[in-house]
Amino acid sequence: MGRYTLIAVALTALLGLGFWWSGQGDVPDVAAGTERIGPAMVDVAVPKTLSANAEIGKMAFEAKCAACHGANAAGQDGVAPPLVHKIYEPSHHGDAAFLLAAKNGVRAHHWRFGNMPPVEGVTDGDVKMIVAYVRELQRANGIN
Ligand code: HEC
Repeated sequence: MGRYTLIAVALTALLGLGFWWSGQGDVPDVAAGTERIGPAMVDVAVPKTLSANAEIGKMAFEAKCAACHGANAAGQDGVAPPLVHKIYEPSHHGDAAFLLAAKNGVRAHHWRFGNMPPVEGVTDGDVKMIVAYVRELQRANGIN
């Protein structure tokens, strides 16, 4: 084998190693993300009693929001965030943010779960009840 052939073989081997190495980081992220789908993301202390409005809101929440945001708004990893979370305290996400979220959907910005689509079949009145429910859950968990 001539000197140039040897160099060429060495370079090819290095290049191959480089491709193999750069491929190593590609797969795990997605797989790890999917197998985590489901579990609640926070522990929510449920208040013993709810106001009348919050009781109505709880039913609407369970019908329209819990499929993604989870029971007691505790979130579902890989699906949607907990609303019982400091990010959603009244001073950061006021009641209007809930009305807008239900009406127009939400472009993913705080989390990596994708966009929230607009929610069909809820009125502003329903969402106000849902907000009353979520705020009472938040207060019971020290989020004011
Ligand atoms: C199809 C799944 C899905 C459903 C159903 C759903 N959400 Fe969401 N929601 C999401 C996701 C995902 C996000 C997070 C977006 C982000 O990354 O910030 C979100 C974010 C939100 C936010 C934060 C808005 C903001 O301004 O950042 C509010 C409030 C909210 N949802 C309320 C609700 C309410 C109320 C309902 C029921 C009427 C509901 N969601 C139903 C998936 C859902």
